[in-house]
Amino acid sequence: MPVYGKRNSPRKPVYPKHTATIFRPELESKTRPRTTRIFSGRQWSLVSSSLARISQTFGFDLVKAIRVRVQKSEKPVIVDYGCGKGTAITELAQAFPNARCFGFSEEFYDEWKENRNVEFVHESSFDFPRLFGKKKIDYAYSHYGLSKSSNIPFDVKRLLPKMKIGGKIVFNSSDLELLHDLRKIPGIQVKIVNYSKKRVIKEFHIPDSFCYVITRIE
Ligand SMILES: C[S@@+](CC[C@H](N)C(=O)[O-])C[C@H]1O[C@@H](n2cnc3c(N)ncnc32)[C@H](O)[C@@H]1O
Repeated sequence: MPVYGKRNSPRKPVYPKHTATIFRPELESKTRPRTTRIFSGRQWSLVSSSLARISQTFGFDLVKAIRVRVQKSEKPVIVDYGCGKGTAITELAQAFPNARCFGFSEEFYDEWKENRNVEFVHESSFDFPRLFGKKKIDYAYSHYGLSKSSNIPFDVKRLLPKMKIGGKIVFNSSDLELLHDLRKIPGIQVKIVNYSKKRVIKEFHIPDSFCYVITRIE
């Protein structure tokens, strides 16, 4: 039987002294966080970001960027990847009345029922790309829609064949090392265009993030 340690000087375990637990409610209330995280472990709390808020996070005007991309497209297709209640994609459907606008999310929101300009899909990111034929999408963006993803390069690879040549995938993530992995994917150009500091908007704690812009080039 293997024996570890010195034989003649066995170490005695050190037990912490038992002290009574002191409850300090005034301290507790001061340190309790007053903000809500965007994902609480059960449900998303940031679910209705406007175009203005998304443009602020991405560091550029999303409407202008989409206009540049879709102006030559006959049937533009725009996708909100992880759309929440669909506030931003609804605004985009108004700005681009000739476009087909899709929002998808694995959670369902009642707000979708009243909206006739956007096609909402209650689906996971795994199944959602199956809706599209090859090279259909002009612009897919995701505002904190990939926060829970354990493998963003995998998500990008699944969406890529559905993107038109020149089509854009734009999303934000706190992970800077992702750049390295994304650059290994053939047929795309990857850029980080903005760093957005963590901030608190109303009661939401919004983590910091980098804005990634991916262009399908072949
Ligand atoms: C933090 S919320 C952001 C909502 C919206 N983009 C906004 O900024 O207000 C994340 C959204 O992404 C969706 N989502 C996250 N992971 C997903 C997945 N794997 N498949 C489908 N939807 C997903 C959630 O259901 C939710 O609608």
